[in-house]
Amino acid sequence: MEESLTVKWKHSFVFLISILIFLFFLHSQISPNLLLNHHLHLRVKKWPQLPLRFRSDGTFKILQVADMHFGAGILTRCKDVLPSEFHYCSDLNTTQFLRRMIQAEKPDFIAFTGDNIFGPSTADAAESLLRAFSPVLESGLPWAAVLGNHDQESTMTREELMFFISLMDYSVSQTNPVAKNPNHANGSFISDIDGFGNYDLSVYGAPGSALANSSILNLYFLDSGDRETVGGKQTYGWIKESQLRWLQDVSQRLQVSHFQSKNQDINYTIGASPPALAFFHIPIQEVVQLYYQKIVGEFQEAVACSSVNSGVLQTFVSMGDVKAVFIGHDHKNDFCGNLEGIWFCYGGGFGYHAYGRAGWPRRARVILAELQKGDKAWMGVERIKTWKRLDDEMLSKIDEQVLWEVPPPR
Ligand SMILES: *[C@@H]1O[C@H](CO)[C@@H](O)[C@H](O)[C@H]1NC(C)=O
Ligand SMILES: *[C@@H]1O[C@H](CO)[C@@H](O)[C@H](O)[C@H]1NC(C)=O
Ligand SMILES: *[C@@H]1O[C@H](CO)[C@@H](O)[C@H](O)[C@H]1NC(C)=O
Ligand SMILES: *[C@@H]1O[C@H](CO)[C@@H](O)[C@H](O)[C@H]1NC(C)=O
Repeated sequence: MEESLTVKWKHSFVFLISILIFLFFLHSQISPNLLLNHHLHLRVKKWPQLPLRFRSDGTFKILQVADMHFGAGILTRCKDVLPSEFHYCSDLNTTQFLRRMIQAEKPDFIAFTGDNIFGPSTADAAESLLRAFSPVLESGLPWAAVLGNHDQESTMTREELMFFISLMDYSVSQTNPVAKNPNHANGSFISDIDGFGNYDLSVYGAPGSALANSSILNLYFLDSGDRETVGGKQTYGWIKESQLRWLQDVSQRLQVSHFQSKNQDINYTIGASPPALAFFHIPIQEVVQLYYQKIVGEFQEAVACSSVNSGVLQTFVSMGDVKAVFIGHDHKNDFCGNLEGIWFCYGGGFGYHAYGRAGWPRRARVILAELQKGDKAWMGVERIKTWKRLDDEMLSKIDEQVLWEVPPPR
C-alpha cells in the first residue's frame, strides 16, 4: 500500500514535470509569435528622409499618379483595354506600371491625386490601400495622397482612410493640418476645416546652399470631396470656403516667413515668393473653358466638376504663389491648360480597373522643378516643367512643356 502510494506519487511528479515542460515549451513557441503580432500592430511607422529637399544637382521631381482605382488585386479585371489584352489584365498591371514609372523616372516624391482605390471592388479598404501603394512602400520614397470620390466606397470612411494613409510607411500625408497660427502660442491645434486630407508640405533648398533651411517650393493638398446633393440634385464635391481660408493663411505665412529669413542677396535672386503647386482630385468649373483654348494634351471627355463654384481659382490668383494645379477624376483628359496665369493639368488615367479608352495607353505625369544657379551654390526655383509617360513598351515620354519660370530680376 505504502509502496504503491510512493509509486503513484512518483508518477504524479513525473506527470507534473512533463506538464510544466510542455507548458514551458508552449510558452516559448507561441508567445514570441503573440508578441510579434503585438509588435506588428504597434509597429513604428517608417519615415522617409525628411525634410523634403532638392537634390544636390538642383532638381526635385514629382510623380503624379491619378486614379489607380485599385480593387482586390489579381482578381480585379481591367476595364477598357483591347479584347486581346483583357484576358491577362488585372490590378497587377497597375502595380507593374507604378513600379516601372518609379524605376524609369526615379522621382523624389510621389503624389496620388485620389481614387487610389475603387471601393466597390474590394471587401477590405485597408488591404486594397496596402496593395495599391505597395510599389511606393517598397521604394522607400516619400509620398502623399488625397482622396477621390471612390476611395470611401468600401469599409472605411474618408476620415479613416486619410488616417490610415497618414500612418503608412514613408507617407507624409496628413489627415488634416495642425495649424501653426502664431496667435495660438500655447500650442498647435487641428484646424476646424471641411474634409480630410488638407495639408501643406515644404520642399527645402539644395544641401549646402543658402536656402538649405528654407522652404522654396510649397505643395498644397486639398480634399475636393466625393458627392453632394445641392438643391435636390446630385453633384460632385468641391473645395469648401473653410479649406480656402486655411490655405490662404498657410500661403501667407509661408511667404512672410520667407522674406523674414532672407538677407538682401537672396531676396534679390529668389524673386517675389516661393512657388507652390496644388494637388486635388475633382476639377474646378473653369477647367471646362479650356475646351476653347490652346492646351497641351487631349480633351476627350466632359469635365465632371461640381455644380458649385466656391472660388478656388480666384483664391489661387489672390494668393499668388500657386503656379500649377494637378488634378485627376476624368481619366480620358490628360491636358494642361492655363487659367488666369495658373496651369491646370490632368494626370491622365493611371489604373487598369478605371474606365479609359481601349488602345489609348494608361499614363502618368511627371513634374520637375529646377533651381537657379547662383555664383557658388543653388538658389531658389527657376523653372517648373512637366511631361507624361505612357504605359507602353518604351514608357514613351510625351507633351513636355514648361509650366513656370522665375520672372527676370528687375
Ligand atoms: C498585363 O500584365 C501582363 C503580365 O505582365 C502582361 O502580359 C499584359 O500584357 C499586361 N496587359 C496590359 C494591357 O498591359
Ligand atoms: C490656448 O489658446 C486658446 C486659443 O487661442 C485659448 O483660448 C486658451 O485660453 C489658451 N490657453 C492658455 C492656457 O493660454
Ligand atoms: C541649416 O541648418 C543646419 C543645422 O541647423 C546648419 O548647420 C546650417 O548652417 C544651416 N544652413 C543655413 C544656410 O542656414
Ligand atoms: C525682399 O523683397 C520683399 C518683396 O519684394 C521686400 O518687401 C523686402 O523689403 C525685401 N527685403 C530685403 C531685405 O531687401
